[in-house]
Amino acid sequence: MDTPDPIEFEELAISAGACPVEILTGRLKQANARYFIGSGKLEEIAQLIQLHQAEIVLFDHPLSPSQERNLEEGLKCRVIDRTGLILDIFAQRARSYEGKLQVELAQLEHSVTRLVRGWTHLDRQKGGIGMRGAGETQLEIDQRLVRVRIKSIQKSLAKVKKQRDQGRRARQRAEIPTISLVGYTNAGKSSLFNRMSESDIYVADQLFATLDSTLRKIQLPDLGSAILVDTVGFIRNLPHQLVDAFRATLEETTEASLLLHVIDASNEEHPLLKDQVDKVLEEIGGSEIPTLLVYNKIDLLENQEVTVDRDKNGIPWRVWVSAKSSLGMAQLFQAITDILGVDFVEPEIILSPQQGKFRAKLYHQNVVKKETVDDEGNVCLSLRLPKADFIRLLQEENIDPALYVEQAHPDDDYLETIHNPAT
Ligand code: GTP
Repeated sequence: MDTPDPIEFEELAISAGACPVEILTGRLKQANARYFIGSGKLEEIAQLIQLHQAEIVLFDHPLSPSQERNLEEGLKCRVIDRTGLILDIFAQRARSYEGKLQVELAQLEHSVTRLVRGWTHLDRQKGGIGMRGAGETQLEIDQRLVRVRIKSIQKSLAKVKKQRDQGRRARQRAEIPTISLVGYTNAGKSSLFNRMSESDIYVADQLFATLDSTLRKIQLPDLGSAILVDTVGFIRNLPHQLVDAFRATLEETTEASLLLHVIDASNEEHPLLKDQVDKVLEEIGGSEIPTLLVYNKIDLLENQEVTVDRDKNGIPWRVWVSAKSSLGMAQLFQAITDILGVDFVEPEIILSPQQGKFRAKLYHQNVVKKETVDDEGNVCLSLRLPKADFIRLLQEENIDPALYVEQAHPDDDYLETIHNPAT
């Protein structure tokens, strides 16, 4: 996944508002310290600029400030690297106060080392990429002022984050489930978000149509209210300077009750893109959260109907839908209800020293929350698991679940403290 993808880069350029006239690829054994590319390529690009009267050259690679400067001097044309391009897209899409602050911070950090470059030989009005947002004003002031601004943004961000945490806590108190839409950029998250919440946030056939988290209240069948969160799209090889800004916008995701991982089923590369998203989710602690895979854009597939795939316990793990054609929305809502409505129990069980195998099995299933041992070597385990799983595990041990269910709370099906009859 580390190899450049010219098609995706072209999409990024179009997203930023550019109109690509030529795509040039090449192999580079070793980067040229002065220009990044070799002299032959430099000449080739210069000719193409002449031919197309191009106003800007975009590199699908990070460039050092001096390489960017040298290239601009050599080509007599504005040069933007991959980081600058993505930042520009972020700047166009940021809508919330926090999103805007995060983008400005990343832009300033990117530009602080580039303030020395000679902008005067180039026409600033041409090809707005890289000149939006903070770019226009901040490049003119000195590095010291930029650093002061960076500090002040960091302070404001900390304040905003605190407020957001409080909002999140209030929601948790009210026990409203939060459902986060995550997925690779252009998978159709915003479209699905709109379809599910009947709202009209900005959707475009562009990458990064959403930068900051956006919240809406939805109604689930049988379960009532839930909060739906739209998040920024994932992108491969995200420049490392942007990772913080990107993650901060996703932090809320790790608090979700359920993730809807939206996948563009019509994209041939979807398994690779899914892996990329899974990897990042694992890094930010989101892989423990129950996840429903939403295979979107089935209107573009032949022979794929709206389907809900369920595991052996009947819990949905994947749905096939089309946000654009509004196919499968009722099934999606029902699947969410089926997952969130799973009847969890939190029993305490006491195992004798001879039941070590059962204990190991419970650990293997990752359902043990706490363990204590009494004087006789009996192990007391606090568990949390779906009720159906608990009953199945007991049956596998030849323990009659009825013995336990009898001791359950009389008003509902919530199992309370349970003792192993063997002890
Ligand atoms: P980012 O905000 O960039 O992460 O994108 P996103 O995942 O939010 O995707 P978005 O909803 O902006 O959709 C991207 C493109 O896919 C748009 O052109 C949508 O119209 C299109 N799209 C979304 N859902 C469907 C669908 O079910 N079928 C088809 N054919 N196109 C869809």
